[in-house]
Amino acid sequence: MKDPIRFVDLQAQYEELKAQLDAAVLNVLASGMYAPGEQVRLLEEEIAASCGVKYGVACNSGTDALKIALQAMGIGPGDEVITTPFTFVATVEAIVQNGARPVFVDIDPRTFNMDPSLIEAAITEHTKAILPIHLFGQIAAMESILEIAKAHNLMVLEDAAQAIGSTRNGKACGTWGDAATLSFFPTKNLGAAGDAGMILTNSDEIAERSRSLRVHGMAKQPYYYEDIGHTSRMDEIQGAILRVKYQALSAWNNARNANAQVYDEAFRDSEIVCPYVEPETTYHTYHQYTIRYERRDALMEYLKQHGVPSAVYYPVPLHVQPPYQFLGYKEGDFPETERACREVLSLPIQAHLTTEQVEYCADVALHFVRDRSVAGR
Ligand SMILES: Cc1ncc(COP(=O)(O)O)c(C=O)c1O
Repeated sequence: MKDPIRFVDLQAQYEELKAQLDAAVLNVLASGMYAPGEQVRLLEEEIAASCGVKYGVACNSGTDALKIALQAMGIGPGDEVITTPFTFVATVEAIVQNGARPVFVDIDPRTFNMDPSLIEAAITEHTKAILPIHLFGQIAAMESILEIAKAHNLMVLEDAAQAIGSTRNGKACGTWGDAATLSFFPTKNLGAAGDAGMILTNSDEIAERSRSLRVHGMAKQPYYYEDIGHTSRMDEIQGAILRVKYQALSAWNNARNANAQVYDEAFRDSEIVCPYVEPETTYHTYHQYTIRYERRDALMEYLKQHGVPSAVYYPVPLHVQPPYQFLGYKEGDFPETERACREVLSLPIQAHLTTEQVEYCADVALHFVRDRSVAGR
C-alpha cells in the first residue's frame, strides 16, 4: 500500500471540507461569541429536525449528555437502570454518578446489543429505566424493548453515541425512547474538534430540565437555581464545525456501508464472522465494522505487521472492571459479553478509505485465516 491505512482519518475529513470549516471557525473567532450562541442553537435544531424529534440539547460531551439526561428523567439514588456490560464505560458511569444502580443484562451475540429476552428477569420494584446502547452503529431491538418498558411503566434512554444517522424500520436512532444521547467525540461518525454531545427528546419537561442542568441547574432567572447541575455547554466553535460536517454525514455513512460490503463479500465462507445486520430493517452506520474470530489477538498482530490497524472494542467487560466490583457481579455472569470481549476485532471502515485499501485489509485478514502456516494451527 502506498498510502498508510488510517483507522480514523480526521485529516481527510478536514481536507474534504477545508474551505467551509476554515470559514466557520474564523467566523466564530471574529464574532467574539465563544459560549453557545447561534451556531449551537442551529445545530440543535438541524439535528433534532433531521432525526425527527422536537428538541436537541447540546452538551459538552456524550458522557455529560447521558448524565444530564438521566438526571432530567428523575433517575437518582435508590433507582435501578437496566443496561449491558458490553459498552463504553460512560454508559454505566453516568448511571452510577447519578446515584442509581446499573443492572446488567447480557447481549444478543449476533448484534452485540441488549438481548430483550433477558430484560424482564432483571426488573425489580426499583427499576426505573432501560438504557440500550446502539452499539457500533446498529439500533438495538427497540420494538421489543419499548414493549417491555411500556408493560412495566419504565422510561427508556437510548445511548446513541455511536449511531447517528442509523435507522430501524425507517425510524431514526434517538427517536425511540423518552430521550437519547449522542456523542460528537472526534472519532465518531460525526465528530467535533474536541468534546461535544447532545440530548434528543420529544419531552418538553426533559428538554427544559436538561437545558437548565447543563448550566448549573440555573432557573430562567439568572443566578437563581432549581437543581444541582453541571457546567456542560457546547462551545460555539464546535457547533459551527459540527454544522459543516453534518452536511457530509450521510455520504460518509454511505461510504462506510460500501466498505462494509467489500468486507462482507470477502469474508463470506471464511471463519471470520461478519457483523450481523438485521435484514432489510436496519441501516447500520458502521461506526465500527466488528468481526469475531477465535484467535483474535494473533490476527490483530498479523494485521499490524502488514500495515492494517485494528482495535478491540471492548477487551474487558464492565462487570469485572475494578471500579464496578461493588455491583457484585462476577466472571461468568454474562457469557455472551465475555465471549465477545475475547473475540471481537474492529477493522478499518472509515469513509475516506479507498476500495483498494479495504480490499487489501480484507486480503491480509483472509490470508491469516486461510493459511495454516501463518495462522499456526
Ligand atoms: C456507547 C458510548 N456511550 C457514551 C460515550 C461517551 O461519549 P463522549 O466520549 O462524547 O463523552 C461514547 C463515546 O465514546 C460511547 O461510545
